[in-house]
Amino acid sequence: MKIAVAKGDGIGPEIMDAVIKIFDANQVKLEYEYVEMGKWVFDKGFSNGMTPEAQRTIEDLGILFKGPMETPKGKGVKSINVTARKTWNTYANKRVFQTLHGVDTVFSKAGIPIDITIVRENIEDTYGGVEHLLTQDVALSRRFITRPGSLQVIKYAFDMAKKKKAKRITCGHKANIMKLTDGLFLDCFYEVAKEYPELKSDDKIVDDLAMKMVVRPDEFDVVVLTNLQGDIISDLCAGLVGGLGFAPSANIGDHIAIFEAVHGTAPDIAGKNIANPTALLLSGLALLRHVGLMENAAIIENALLYTLEQGIHTGDFGNRATSSANTTQFADAIIGNFGKQPQHGAKELLPNHPVPHTMFKLEHNLMMETKETQQERIVGVDMFIASDEQPEVIAQKCLHHGGIKFKLISISNRGTQVWPTGSKYTNLVNQYNLRFEGLNNQSLNQLDIIGLYVSLCADFKICSIELLNMWGDKRGYSLAQGQ
Ligand code: NAI
Repeated sequence: MKIAVAKGDGIGPEIMDAVIKIFDANQVKLEYEYVEMGKWVFDKGFSNGMTPEAQRTIEDLGILFKGPMETPKGKGVKSINVTARKTWNTYANKRVFQTLHGVDTVFSKAGIPIDITIVRENIEDTYGGVEHLLTQDVALSRRFITRPGSLQVIKYAFDMAKKKKAKRITCGHKANIMKLTDGLFLDCFYEVAKEYPELKSDDKIVDDLAMKMVVRPDEFDVVVLTNLQGDIISDLCAGLVGGLGFAPSANIGDHIAIFEAVHGTAPDIAGKNIANPTALLLSGLALLRHVGLMENAAIIENALLYTLEQGIHTGDFGNRATSSANTTQFADAIIGNFGKQPQHGAKELLPNHPVPHTMFKLEHNLMMETKETQQERIVGVDMFIASDEQPEVIAQKCLHHGGIKFKLISISNRGTQVWPTGSKYTNLVNQYNLRFEGLNNQSLNQLDIIGLYVSLCADFKICSIELLNMWGDKRGYSLAQGQ
């Protein structure tokens, strides 16, 4: 069985070499095809951070084991990590956080066991990275939450929870504020929950979830979230079990799966051979189980647990009074402990049942679509304009633009209504949303909208427009605060 391997940037090559050394020492029957991906590939001029050969290899083999890869903050190239997850539709990011004996935390010291699996939606949300500057002062990000995308990841979470005999599955969200986006995700959650009556399903608003996870982490089992909230909550969970050095992740899709640690390239310690390889090793063990190499996975995991129980540690955790092992020494200690049984959490030795990963070729991109059952109607339009004038002045100018089709019903600034009612205490930025609806509730078409656009252009710079749609009696847009 062959898999693609990308060592990554920063500490990536050091921890990947350590993990492959452990696999080789355990005679793991995998062949590795090393591919070119990462910051250094961007630097060679490949705009998506990987060579065409790397893409071909990964699409042929279907499994990628990758080290962390660097992304510049606030400028420069897009994240190769996110590009890989999105390009290959690895819609479910599974992250397992368990108490590891030998890794002291406030919870382990208090005897509170933690076993939480986060399933984070991996493709949508603000990670679409679709952002625009509407004015020099105002940046806008589009947040995509889709019904098919949500159903896909939520079904995965329920299936996985059922297989692992979970007691509870919780949806984290912010549907009280983001009623359409998070509201859709939450609706999908309860729609899927109906098919799994044996599982206790509930939901928590994400801020409350964060607090409860810190106070009583043992009450949680499987938690499914949208992308950004899932990213943050899973780092919180990493903190509960001892830090990022212990947080593995698997990005699962229908065709391609990517296994990687949650942490990044740790530039502060790169090149020193002191990084903790545990998170990447745990991700590698998830990979071995994914391809049916159960016995190898159990022997290596037991050796890892035994090593941690011995108090052997890298510099980022463990007893500060004892000297720390470097990356290579830590890997060698694990190899030396093959065949040993840890006192806590020993894994059962199941036989290997290799499951060759067969890729079937896709001829087209798959369209995931819910058939519309309700009649769609355009009832208005949001015109986003650049302006530093007062709301009343803008409203006055709009009077002669509506014509016989439109009426201006609201002006908002950063989502808060400032006309026809509002407060002088609402600070403004130089970008407004003018909300027009059809006069006398009449339906509109796209040409009507263009007519209004052309008319408004005489007075305003329009930065963006958004249609106001109704599906049956369901409103497809949010109201402004105070509208
Ligand atoms: P980071 O995870 O690289 O580092 C955060 C802190 O944790 C640092 O103090 C680091 O030394 C420590 N740390 C992380 N992994 C460790 C390990 N295995 N052993 C010991 N200590 C470890 O996060 P940061 O600094 O925000 O990001 C650095 C770069 O990594 C950025 O370019 C970022 O975009 C990228 N990144 C890549 C990811 C991926 O490839 N999946 C995920 C997260 C960040």
